[in-house]
Amino acid sequence: MSNAAIPPVLEVRNLTRDYVTGGGLFRPAKVVHAVKSVNFTLTKGKTLAVVGESGCGKSTLARMITLIDQQTAGDILIDGEIVDKTHGVTKAMRQKVQIVFQNPYGSLNPRQKIGDVLAEPLLLNTDMGNDERRQKAMAMLLKVGLAPEHFNRYPHMFSGGQRQRIAIARALMLNPSFLVLDEPVSALDLSVQAQILNLLKDLQDEFGLTYVFISHDLSVVRYIADEVMVMYFGDVVEHGSRQAVFDNPQHAYTQTLFAATPKADVASIRRRLAAKAALPA
Ligand SMILES: Nc1ncnc2c1ncn2[C@@H]1O[C@H](COP(=O)(O)OP(=O)(O)O)[C@@H](O)[C@H]1O
Ligand SMILES: [Mg+2]
Repeated sequence: MSNAAIPPVLEVRNLTRDYVTGGGLFRPAKVVHAVKSVNFTLTKGKTLAVVGESGCGKSTLARMITLIDQQTAGDILIDGEIVDKTHGVTKAMRQKVQIVFQNPYGSLNPRQKIGDVLAEPLLLNTDMGNDERRQKAMAMLLKVGLAPEHFNRYPHMFSGGQRQRIAIARALMLNPSFLVLDEPVSALDLSVQAQILNLLKDLQDEFGLTYVFISHDLSVVRYIADEVMVMYFGDVVEHGSRQAVFDNPQHAYTQTLFAATPKADVASIRRRLAAKAALPA
């Protein structure tokens, strides 16, 4: 068997999304071209970072590739299989893609214990028995750096960083082909950001996970990305390896984006925190 036969985990072809808004009696409808004919492929085990300013189309792209929202035009292929737009998305296809949002609290049921939050995807999508579901949920809880005693606690009893760990754990319960992370650390303190980014890297190394990582923060992107795609008003204006894009940005927009970013990468944040911790109290 040759490797050439293994398709990319994700491929998008001319992916496009228009929103039609307004359109009342005296107002003409307005079309927003949120994502304009985007193309890329993503290989297993890699992280593609999508970066750009607020409103450039990142979340719209995320919703399309996680099959939450349907494209206006273009195609999505997951593990080499085209997502059939006309006959609806199958449950099997839906299980292959998971998303983690900036604020996981909104998607956590306040009355559901964390053990049940994690076991629920197994309950809904597999015929696993109760004991096996609980075992798998506990194992994942530990994998994301939480403790056994967290199993029976409720969402409000956790910090923002811990809730993001829970959201990541839940997203991984069904072994998705890829994970989309839409600004997953943007609401967290810097030290917690670094912890979550490290967790994502560790999980990726251990399980060969594939990420689409969306961020407006270049220091985060520099830390996590293998490839970087820069969006600007719905267009991809730059796409290349992290090194190529950071060392030698081609597009004028990328150059101004980079020039406007303070040079605070995660390593320097860590050094600052370590220096602070070393000070006498
Ligand atoms: N449901 C919607 N209806 C109308 N316009 C939308 C909708 N969602 C997003 N948009 C518009 O599409 C563009 C891209 O938005 P979005 O994908 O949320 O950007 P980002 O995540 O990069 O901030 C923006 O102009 C936004 O106002
Ligand atoms: Mg967004």
